[in-house]
Amino acid sequence: MPPKLLITGATGLLGSHILKAAQEWWHPVGTYHRTTRRQALRFFGETDHGRIDLADYGETKAMIADVQPAAVIHTAAITNLDYCEKYPDESQRINLNAPTDLAALCGDLDIPFIFTSTDLVFDGSDAPYKEDDPPTPINVFAEHRALAEEGILAAYADAVIARLPLLIGYAALGRESFLYKMVAAFRRDQEVILFGEAIRSAVSAAAAARGLLQLAGSGFEDDVNIAEIDRVAGRLHLGGRDHVSLYELGLLILRILGRNEQLAVPISVLDSYAGLLDTPFLAARSANVTLDSSTAYELGYDPPPLRAQLEELLPPQWRPHSGEPETENADSEEANGGEDT
Ligand SMILES: NC(=O)c1ccc[n+]([C@@H]2O[C@H](COP(=O)([O-])OP(=O)(O)OC[C@H]3O[C@@H](n4cnc5c(N)ncnc54)[C@H](OP(=O)(O)O)[C@@H]3O)[C@@H](O)[C@H]2O)c1
Repeated sequence: MPPKLLITGATGLLGSHILKAAQEWWHPVGTYHRTTRRQALRFFGETDHGRIDLADYGETKAMIADVQPAAVIHTAAITNLDYCEKYPDESQRINLNAPTDLAALCGDLDIPFIFTSTDLVFDGSDAPYKEDDPPTPINVFAEHRALAEEGILAAYADAVIARLPLLIGYAALGRESFLYKMVAAFRRDQEVILFGEAIRSAVSAAAAARGLLQLAGSGFEDDVNIAEIDRVAGRLHLGGRDHVSLYELGLLILRILGRNEQLAVPISVLDSYAGLLDTPFLAARSANVTLDSSTAYELGYDPPPLRAQLEELLPPQWRPHSGEPETENADSEEANGGEDT
């Protein structure tokens, strides 16, 4: 029997990709929160551990005792920046307290714990960011993630804090990710408003999942070698090699889809507060938070070029000359200034 890997937040964009990829080396076990039991049964099959509220310490402790994982990748979070701004207590419970508690529980058992943090712990004024640059959070979500990083390492010095960039991909259970919404609008010939100065070292959720599984000791050889994780402790950046603004990302997608480049409409972060978005943001957005990920590259993390990752996500039948009938023109405009986490 392969070793057990516990993946929290396995119905999320990242967690679902880890759950899928992990099956090659691990016996993955996933948790979820608001997903219904029926959806979970359809999605998880054998890998279902069940619903859990990670904000409840008792439930979390009982889950660890029950699953007895060999390693844990913690992706569960409230990732909507504006929601966190509006409900800071809820954000604190899941984005700060839960990962700190989980790290301490893993520390007691001396098992690898990987926390999926974010490039948004930085304000964006001094990129590219290295692992030891001090966090400069500018909204509630980012502040709780930055505090969680500190709390985790205080509770368990061997924990790994994997800081991730913007993740591109399709979410499980029919949920609409940033990429999904953007591509759907472009394919309907609708404009999408995208930040011009929000620069990200974006990677696909699949590439990030592979990087995280490598950190956990799988993916280099046929079997899991958990000792691999001893090569890393503390913070590690898992950014992509290409640094693009959200606007440039939109342009790249339009070029691959063979659509009119004017469907990507650049906007400034400052403009976003000037009534240009249908729903103005509550949380401040970081500008250039590109990550210096050279340490991870030396360790073997090797995300493909962004264009190649996007081509995998945009099937050939969506591209020109595929024989597929064109969608009708529509004039409505999608206000979508940018990603969440
Ligand atoms: N997506 C990005 O672009 C990005 C970029 C950088 C870093 N990250 C980091 O990667 C991680 C995953 O992000 P994501 O985009 O995959 O998140 P996501 O799609 O929003 O998924 C969040 C997951 O957390 C679970 N969850 C929420 N509240 C919970 C609770 N109280 N107890 C237990 N589980 C709970 C959700 O379960 P239900 O769905 O069942 O409610 C879901 O499985 C986060 O730590 C995020 O900061 C993401």
